Amino acid sequence: MKALILSGGRGTRLRPLTHTMAKQLVPVANQPILGYVMKHLQEAGIKDAGVIVAPQTQNEVRNYLKDGSLWNISITYIVQDEPLGLAHAVKTARDFLGEDDFVMYLGDNLLGTGIKDAIQRFKKEGYHCMIFLKEVSDPRAFGVAELDAQGNIVRLVEKPKVPPSNLALVGVYIFSPVVHEAIEKITPSWRGELEITDAIQVLIDSGYRVKGEILDSWWLDTGKKDDFLAANTTVLDEYTVRKIDGDVDQESTIEGRVQIEAGATILRSTIRGPVVIGKNAVIDNSFIGPFSSIGTGSKIKDSVVEHVVILEDSIVEGVVRLEDSLIGRNATVKKSKSLRGALRLMVGDHSRVEI
Ligand code: G1P
Repeated sequence: MKALILSGGRGTRLRPLTHTMAKQLVPVANQPILGYVMKHLQEAGIKDAGVIVAPQTQNEVRNYLKDGSLWNISITYIVQDEPLGLAHAVKTARDFLGEDDFVMYLGDNLLGTGIKDAIQRFKKEGYHCMIFLKEVSDPRAFGVAELDAQGNIVRLVEKPKVPPSNLALVGVYIFSPVVHEAIEKITPSWRGELEITDAIQVLIDSGYRVKGEILDSWWLDTGKKDDFLAANTTVLDEYTVRKIDGDVDQESTIEGRVQIEAGATILRSTIRGPVVIGKNAVIDNSFIGPFSSIGTGSKIKDSVVEHVVILEDSIVEGVVRLEDSLIGRNATVKKSKSLRGALRLMVGDHSRVEI
């Protein structure tokens, strides 16, 4: 079993963060989403992965995954020149995939459970394709499945205006090589993409064994999540364990599940978990409340923050209370020195400020 990891695309739905970084590398609880994907593949015993990359963001993806040895997986990079769909990505990887079974994992999807057991069931039952479904409140943003009374998949539709159910297709698929023939039979959808959903429909119509399983863990599609903070909150809640490798002075209090990485410094502050604090971050005379991620090298001084994601090398200083906020890299949020209380802002494209 090989893996095909999709790490291309333009990430337009996560702007402004994705103006300067690949959406698959946006950190959730201080770890790039791709890191969680690699961990699941490693646990499932995958040794050989193809990574689909876009020309614009391939360098950062390569810099992060390198040769895959951190996860004991050998990586082959495959460039997809244009984001022409998931089935197009499979086509682009045709030589790499050969005649092997493979698991396709979208690099912006986060699952609360691994895929080891599912791969075993796929092999044991000899399915041609296995997909995962999850109930969502607005299925129109996804591929959607219609099931019969026995729970068999009857029909799959991509981004339907009138969804036949609320069961969305999760971005993890297991395929046997028959999928390549199915892909040859499909044509681009209304959004100009070769949809993997259509290829799976061809498999169903041709009588191949396509199994749909309802996922019983949580699932987050970070690529289109309008509330990225929600993803961070779920992951912090689920994965954070208390581990203090940084320096904490006598005047500070660390409560609950707090992870402080080596090189971080906590001075005269209170930190209440779940919270992660990255390498070389400095927290000085501040309160960091639950569900916060403070990125590598960031500095929080004389401030109160809660339920925030602060990426790398940013500064928050003199801010009485910052909540429900997402701060990018190298950003500064600082109390104004203006006597008239004027706001002084430099806000980038696609940003949002609430005052
Ligand atoms: C893709 C698939 C869709 C699936 C979703 C999961 O959508 O086409 O069927 O539900 O991933 O993340 P896209 O990200 O291309 O909009």
